[in-house]
Amino acid sequence: MSSGLLTTESVLQAGQKLLELRPVEEVFHSILEIAASAMHAETALVLLRTAHDYEVAASRTVAGQTRGLGDISLSLLNESISTNRALLTESAVEDPRFSGRSSVILQHIQSAVIVPLTGRAGVEGALYLDSRSDRDLFRKENLSPLSTLAAFATLAIENARRFESAKREIATLMSADISRFLVGDSPVMQELYAMIDRVSPHDLPAMITGESGTGKELVAREIHRRSLRQGKPFLALYCGNVSPELFESELFGHKKGSFTGATLDKQGLVEAAEGGTLFLDEVADIPLSLQAKLLRFLQESEYRRVGDTETRRANVRILTATNKELQSEIQQQRFREDLYFRLYILPVHVPPLRDRLSDVPVLTHHFLRRMKGHVTGISPEALRRMLNYSWPGNVRELENTVARAAVIARGDRIEADDILHQGLTKVSADEDDVSWRAAEKKHILKVLSLVGGNKSRAADLLGISRRYLHYKLKEWNEG
Ligand SMILES: Nc1ncnc2c1ncn2[C@@H]1O[C@H](COP(=O)(O)OP(=O)(O)OP(=O)(O)O)[C@@H](O)[C@H]1O
Ligand SMILES: [Mg+2]
Repeated sequence: MSSGLLTTESVLQAGQKLLELRPVEEVFHSILEIAASAMHAETALVLLRTAHDYEVAASRTVAGQTRGLGDISLSLLNESISTNRALLTESAVEDPRFSGRSSVILQHIQSAVIVPLTGRAGVEGALYLDSRSDRDLFRKENLSPLSTLAAFATLAIENARRFESAKREIATLMSADISRFLVGDSPVMQELYAMIDRVSPHDLPAMITGESGTGKELVAREIHRRSLRQGKPFLALYCGNVSPELFESELFGHKKGSFTGATLDKQGLVEAAEGGTLFLDEVADIPLSLQAKLLRFLQESEYRRVGDTETRRANVRILTATNKELQSEIQQQRFREDLYFRLYILPVHVPPLRDRLSDVPVLTHHFLRRMKGHVTGISPEALRRMLNYSWPGNVRELENTVARAAVIARGDRIEADDILHQGLTKVSADEDDVSWRAAEKKHILKVLSLVGGNKSRAADLLGISRRYLHYKLKEWNEG
């Protein structure tokens, strides 16, 4: 008898083969192939559970037709899945569980078998086989080897899916725009990464503070990327320089006809970002009249579109950024204190570039790589100048300086002369060198000239040892 083909040994062999397969479609087709040929079934289907229903992941018939949900007994399927047991019917025509199915098909089905596919998360679907020619093709003794095959099949599906999602993740990382990643490994950046890690898993609002150009928006993206919301939208709204009406409509959407120009219903960003993160940039600039509405949204997750009476709900995490002193905005009654407390629950401070000058080289190379131009490096002298500057415009200023220098550079690296930056070009002149070493040199030489070059006297006046003075003068070639 044909059913004898499904021995323990053949099931193990088939299982092994299934586990090696990817992508997942190949696993589905192989399951059908193995089960149908071993059992001499005419129709074979892999069904997967969806939120409310089932879907046919793959189907196969001897005659090469496609089969759908309408061709099988849903009650048999439901029963097998809800009890997590393999079931068979020897005569579909006489089986009440097949009632309601298309009679044409029923006339032909002699026997059918359903085996649940049970994974770690419970029953995920089922394998369905039927035969139209043989009435007792499927027997009770087949159920156990078929269930073993189904266990292998489920593992193989999970395996293939995991492989695919890892592959997708790698692809996203590789294709990701590197400009969206934070660069720098100075101690203050390490602290920032640690803070981002602590803040990311929560759904609470986080406020990112820091001077202009420090990378606040990148930090917001990074928080999203490391959160469970990753994969859902990250949307940003700039809050400065917009009229309250426009701002409200951007944030919450509007109903058609609610104001001039509102010709269609429009969804707001809170809706578009559903499940994800909404980043409110320059949050200090949110019009006062809207701050109460934002507060309500933060408290209740509820909002209304402009001109609408319907209250809607949204699941969005709010991140904000500001480079203003919000405390003084509160004192001047431009920012609501209650809103501030809501938004400031998790504070993340981005340090200025002058506190992480050791990141300048890696940032410079990062920007050069991003420009993909002929310039790929920087001379030690040019870099020295960059390290002797305080970068009031932070990383943005550095980015612009590197971009300009790369355009001017003739060779494949930035030379000191390529840096057309007022603060930077003069930095090597003593009066612009603000380093402690420069100040020390200037002071010592000044005192020395005041005492007519008498080193002992100068050392006494300076409160330093003669040895130290000699050592310094030698270093400066003044001795
Ligand atoms: N650590 C970093 N690594 C790589 N690029 C960075 C980093 N920090 C900032 N940048 C880049 O510098 C520029 C400014 O960063 P961003 O716009 O995030 O700053 P910001 O703090 O939001 O500034 P503003 O307050 O002016 O809006 C961007 O082009 C950004 O890609
Ligand atoms: Mg910004």
